[in-house]
Amino acid sequence: MTDSTRKTLIDTAIEMNRCGLNQGTAGNISIRFEDGMLITPAAMEYSGLEPDDIVFVHGDGNSTGRCRPSSEWRFHLDIYRNRPDARAVLHAHPAHSTALACMHEPIPAFHYMVAIAGGRNIRCAPYATFGTQELSDLVVAALSGRKACLMANHGLLCLEKDLGAALALAIEVEQLAKTYLHCLGMGRAVILEDAEMARVIRKFEGYREP
Ligand code: 13P
Repeated sequence: MTDSTRKTLIDTAIEMNRCGLNQGTAGNISIRFEDGMLITPAAMEYSGLEPDDIVFVHGDGNSTGRCRPSSEWRFHLDIYRNRPDARAVLHAHPAHSTALACMHEPIPAFHYMVAIAGGRNIRCAPYATFGTQELSDLVVAALSGRKACLMANHGLLCLEKDLGAALALAIEVEQLAKTYLHCLGMGRAVILEDAEMARVIRKFEGYREP
């Protein structure tokens, strides 16, 4: 069970890079496990990872494994502590989401699919140095009532019910960021009203469930 979960984590990280959402050793992925989580190791190429390279971080922040946990283990663990709905967390540096994050621009309701992240916008968490508790506190706040946020001067962060859903959400948000950047380049987008976004959010409830 642990071994297949670890393999799925590695496969998701490889797919995250293969599909163009991320590059090199940037980003990190975790899955809720026992009282803590399994997470990708720090600064290692995903394509060369073996199941035993995946690190088990306990609920108290201590880790077990032959590798160091991702430098971002704090925000992964804090998300699991704060969000019972989170079973997988994915952080990547995709070009368009990161471009908006470098402008400190949230993604407003310029397209109804913004509601896929849970609300009327996708916030941009203020900047803090990677791997710090300050960054963790900022992203947890930016994710309040949301399943995704941008991270200023850094990248994208998504939480979901499983790894496949987290990757799919990240791909969707990156597409939204790309389209929104096109709009900004041409002038401005027309923003949907809060009442319409509330209607879309209600329509999404249960929409994707079997
Ligand atoms: P890690 O290799 O330590 O996971 O760091 C990558 C990263 O994107 C930091 O934000």
